[in-house]
Amino acid sequence: MHPKVRKAVFPAAGLGTRFLPATKAQPKEMLPLVDKPLIQYGVEEAIQSSIQNIIIVTGRGKSSIEDHFDVNFEMEHLLESKKKKDLLKLVRDISDMIDVCYVRQKEALGLGHAVLRASELVGREPFAVVLSDDVIDAEIPCLRQLLDIHEFFGASVVALMEVPSEQISAYGVVDAEPVDHNGARDRLFRIRNMVEKPKAGEAPSNLAIIGRYILVPEIFDSINAIPPGAGGEIQLTDALKHLLRNRPIYGYKFEGKRYDAGDKLGFLKATVEFALRRNDLGGPFREYLKTLSL
Ligand code: G1P
Repeated sequence: MHPKVRKAVFPAAGLGTRFLPATKAQPKEMLPLVDKPLIQYGVEEAIQSSIQNIIIVTGRGKSSIEDHFDVNFEMEHLLESKKKKDLLKLVRDISDMIDVCYVRQKEALGLGHAVLRASELVGREPFAVVLSDDVIDAEIPCLRQLLDIHEFFGASVVALMEVPSEQISAYGVVDAEPVDHNGARDRLFRIRNMVEKPKAGEAPSNLAIIGRYILVPEIFDSINAIPPGAGGEIQLTDALKHLLRNRPIYGYKFEGKRYDAGDKLGFLKATVEFALRRNDLGGPFREYLKTLSL
């Protein structure tokens, strides 16, 4: 038996420059998709995948994330006195959901550096990493799909998605060979190499890394060993490439739809689709959209 994955790390110290000016004084992780902050979608995905320990790597100006997952006595008192039971449950559920640990990343030195900040809290056990910009709507939570592969092979697993060639330079990109797994060859890959944000025309494939990872603890040694990479930052992709020298890494083309909610257009797409699916909003919102002359 491989050790169980109990912890998920949420890097949340980035400056969110793609979403300025909204993110000047507000963490991008707190931008609401309909009525729920981005980071809560990721936390719920982790919980639905049986991961209970949440570690959020924060930075300056991110205290609203801590408040969000904390108890709000004043709000609870008000809702209780006004007999607003549904809202009270909504507010309580968030703080009851999980126990969260926080660690600060004092400088935004890259995704690899953010993950390394969690090393003391993670210890020497396998763990998950969730980038809350990537919101994934799936019947089986994406993290659960990766955990199934991890539990079978006992190795690191990254989420993969095919991306059009004109967008591939925005991602970590893998060179990988398909692996026959349970009779299916189209989803699972063994990774041979990877590169962070390749120049146009230099990507090894159209398979991009999406923000869900299951990592073995040796990744911390690799992060410590690598120099800064793309954009002068300590890149998680470079650390994975370093880890590949001694450990196998798998890639899994997950089932589900991913929204790049850290990007304005991706965020709008997610907002519209999530709102249309809501029982309370979907009907009237659809009617409203129909009145627009598009
Ligand atoms: C990060 C990772 C990149 C990955 C991407 C997925 O990049 O560095 O490898 O493909 O997330 O969203 P970022 O979007 O932070 O630039």
